[in-house]
Amino acid sequence: MTTICDHLDRDSRVKLGAYYTPEDLVARVHDLVAPYVERGGAKSVMIDTAAGYGAFLQGLAGEVRAGEIDDGAVERLRQVLPADAVFHANSLQEPSRARYRIAEDATLVVVGNPPYNDTTSEFRNGRKGRNEADADLQDRDLGVSFLRSYARLRADVVCVLHPLSYLIKPANFRRLKEFAAHYRLRHGLLFSSARFGQTGGTKFPVVIALYERGAGMDYDDVRTFDFEVLESGGTFRLDVFTTTDGLINKYPPGKQGPRESDLGLYYYTFRDINSLLRNAGFMAAPHYNGIVVLRGEFHRYAYLHAFKRFFAPANAWLYGNLSPLVEPAWLDAHRQELVAFALQDHPVLRAAAKSVRATIAGDYGVDLQVEISPAVRERLRDGIMRLAVGGAACPQAAQAR
Ligand SMILES: C[S@@+](CC[C@H](N)C(=O)[O-])C[C@H]1O[C@@H](n2cnc3c(N)ncnc32)[C@H](O)[C@@H]1O
Repeated sequence: MTTICDHLDRDSRVKLGAYYTPEDLVARVHDLVAPYVERGGAKSVMIDTAAGYGAFLQGLAGEVRAGEIDDGAVERLRQVLPADAVFHANSLQEPSRARYRIAEDATLVVVGNPPYNDTTSEFRNGRKGRNEADADLQDRDLGVSFLRSYARLRADVVCVLHPLSYLIKPANFRRLKEFAAHYRLRHGLLFSSARFGQTGGTKFPVVIALYERGAGMDYDDVRTFDFEVLESGGTFRLDVFTTTDGLINKYPPGKQGPRESDLGLYYYTFRDINSLLRNAGFMAAPHYNGIVVLRGEFHRYAYLHAFKRFFAPANAWLYGNLSPLVEPAWLDAHRQELVAFALQDHPVLRAAAKSVRATIAGDYGVDLQVEISPAVRERLRDGIMRLAVGGAACPQAAQAR
């Protein structure tokens, strides 16, 4: 069940990132932080600086603090928490222990579900809220700013929900800066953004992440980290997957490189599986978002087309932030079938000039007169679907094969 903050209209909800957290996920956070709170004893304080209605703080025995910017939510917080535990302010401006009356030697445990604006959310549609944060906390994503603010509070433990993309996309990971320099991931439980109900069409992985202050972490630590998948009980570990990165170019030409395709074909740029599945594939004219498809590389884009058509595991959300998965040897072994399938299946390729179709068919030894058989289709589908269960994401399914 998702709780929607019912005192806000839709626009304000989007602006404040105010989607409240289901109880079972709150309980997970409590379980993860319990040992630290116990160890800290009377000196431990739990804080949520994006507290909403106080889902993470209500009914707890020990010291709590709540920060919240929204008037309506603050009113509710004051009904469920001691008045002197509620701080009505922008948590991203000058956060400090002193401001929340937390002793420097207290064991500080940050919990919560800070707001975030991911690129698939409604933020994209011009409703975006302003992120008014201190200069060193400023980031285009509010959630990243919140993580950095915890480092400023010198929290001993941080256990919050955030998009997994903050960790697994190298460019995002670099933006964590001070946070990654001082905090190390200890537990990561994954679930689908569908649990929040309101976050738009494309589902993506969200993590309940437990961090301890100390040595910090680098991207390699993330690549080799065993995340737990809440629904299936399986694990998800980045470095078991091979992606098309390094094999298939996914960006339009920069300053160098050919701008025109010798086949007159282009492929819509894709950051990850989610955007590949969402966007158009082949295009017959240059486009500012078009990757140039060159002769000799066509089979790779034919692979992307097959991936788009056939990659649909029940837990697709888990893979949304990764580049398309691939087994390079399989791709090579099936290049003829992949090319034949794309030429027959993609409307732009079907409508392409005869000479272009003939050139591609000639390059790969494809007979344009022969229909793709259901058996070939199934073979391609199997090969691509296998990539989802072939990793460690779903150990039960992998064993069953
Ligand atoms: C995703 S909700 C989480 C609410 C609550 N922790 C829960 O899970 O039920 C995020 C909350 O952060 C608040 N918020 C957004 N920006 C903020 C800021 N700069 N300072 C303090 N609170 C903020 C929103 O008003 C919203 O209540």
